[in-house]
Amino acid sequence: PPDLCPAHTGLFQKMSKCECHFINGTEKVRFVLRHIYNREQLAHFDSDVRPYVGDTPYGEQLAQYRNNDPELLEYYRAQVDTSCRYNYDLYAPFSVER
Ligand SMILES: *[C@@H]1O[C@H](CO)[C@@H](O)[C@H](O)[C@H]1NC(C)=O
Repeated sequence: PPDLCPAHTGLFQKMSKCECHFINGTEKVRFVLRHIYNREQLAHFDSDVRPYVGDTPYGEQLAQYRNNDPELLEYYRAQVDTSCRYNYDLYAPFSVER
């Protein structure tokens, strides 16, 4: 049978991770999006900061590129409502309120 989880020595991992931070329920919400390559954070978006921030020289290029797209920034900024608050309302009864 095929090995479903082989130990690839030449494996590279590209990951984009979204975080919702809830401060006092949904009163104050912060959305953080991290772009990670091989466990190194290249760039991140923080709804409290607004523009993308580069964390490495390559990430800086990525940040500049994304910061030139106001629609994209607005889309990410809106995630505090469309994703974070929306999911809070769905999941809080099963987690926070227990
Ligand atoms: C937390 O939020 C509630 C409204 O949802 C507000 O009345 C209260 O003052 C807030 N508490 C703090 C510590 O900010």
